[in-house]
Amino acid sequence: MIVCLCRGVSERDVLRVMAMGAGTPDAITVACGAGGDCGACTVLLADLLAEGEAAAVGAGARP
Ligand code: FES
Repeated sequence: MIVCLCRGVSERDVLRVMAMGAGTPDAITVACGAGGDCGACTVLLADLLAEGEAAAVGAGARP
């Protein structure tokens, strides 16, 4: 699924940069460009970050 139409960035791309350490919307933008134009996708980026943090806590990692 494309999450950033402006930059053509997929959810998979965002999850990949998150796995490589991008832990904030700004870091995701730097890493893959998502959120760097109109900003309409920033809510989706925040949701993906929250889901990632929830999954990490569920797996026993500290937030
Ligand atoms: S949809 Fe991502 S910056 Fe516009």
